[in-house]
Amino acid sequence: MIEEKEIYILAKKFFEEEYGNERTRIHSACVIDLAVKAAPFFDLDEEVFIIAGWIHDMGRKIDADTHPEKSIAFLDKFLEANPEYKAKRELISDCILHHGRRKLPTTKYGKIMQLCDAASLKHQTYKDYLKKVGKINKKGKN
Ligand SMILES: [Fe+2]
Repeated sequence: MIEEKEIYILAKKFFEEEYGNERTRIHSACVIDLAVKAAPFFDLDEEVFIIAGWIHDMGRKIDADTHPEKSIAFLDKFLEANPEYKAKRELISDCILHHGRRKLPTTKYGKIMQLCDAASLKHQTYKDYLKKVGKINKKGKN
């Protein structure tokens, strides 16, 4: 189970301490679930998606419009505390900076992250959450 991996627990703990927003928690877990499932089909490192997944929307704490750029500051804080993951910074940054709809990811990681970020809105766990909090939008968007 991905949720039991050390890096998942570490990055999720960082998310909870720095942000902890409930909807973003559910959304991020769904993005990670999808990206980690896709990773072996492209021979990609799931740890990149786990770290990027937990951190990519944290910048919303500061500003919604520029949140991808703001999330990079959280990534750097995480990497300072966990330097063993610094070698993955460039790939994680592509995932974080370019996850939005009109962005152009430069790596396979960024491309998959962008697709999974969009697809996560139709993840059953996310739909169940929206139903629970009564925020269902007829277009299926959040
Ligand atoms: Fe997202």
